[in-house]
Amino acid sequence: MAFPRATEIAQLLVKARVQPGDRVVDATIGNGYDTLFLANCVGTTGRVDGFDIQESAIASTRSRLGNDAPVFLHLRGHEEMAAIVAPGISAVMFNLGYYPSGDKTIITRPDTTLTALDAALNLLSTSGLLTIVIYPGHAGGAEEADRVEAWLTDLPPDRYRTVRYGPQGETGNSPPPYLLAIERRG
Ligand SMILES: C[S@@+](CC[C@H](N)C(=O)[O-])C[C@H]1O[C@@H](n2cnc3c(N)ncnc32)[C@H](O)[C@@H]1O
Repeated sequence: MAFPRATEIAQLLVKARVQPGDRVVDATIGNGYDTLFLANCVGTTGRVDGFDIQESAIASTRSRLGNDAPVFLHLRGHEEMAAIVAPGISAVMFNLGYYPSGDKTIITRPDTTLTALDAALNLLSTSGLLTIVIYPGHAGGAEEADRVEAWLTDLPPDRYRTVRYGPQGETGNSPPPYLLAIERRG
């Protein structure tokens, strides 16, 4: 059996944390896999706010959601989430990089990613979880990975607990994706 992918581990961690009725955020809608997953976790009494800058990602995700899905899809950058989402969030999921079904030159960018990560931390409830799947393999991905890692290093350890999941010691032209997860402790 192959090891689970970083995206699968992210969902496992979130599922263990999120309860029906909770409010959560999908910071990068893309194909909407995490959006649908989050909607199932929170149920009809919860709420999911999703962000993407590509209309095609919003449209394809909307077409796959049921009418009673508690999901609000925003055609806006995740760096604007603080203006839309109220604090007290149980989980925020980031899946960086490009929309696999779209224009692969439209990628998440370090400056807006870091603004959004700061906003996400401020929205988390105590024991809330932030997951970030990072793709260092595409053009621009390694720089974004470095910036996120540096941001993570600066987080005060008395307030945040962090874990990392990914292949160890793999080399090659295209470094594999990996997961960072951050729990707010207080
Ligand atoms: C790897 S995909 C996300 C995959 C998605 N989580 C899924 O389950 O299919 C990354 C997405 O981030 C989006 N994106 C890029 N910059 C963004 C930004 N500033 N705010 C929100 N989304 C952004 C891209 O349009 C792309 O759809």
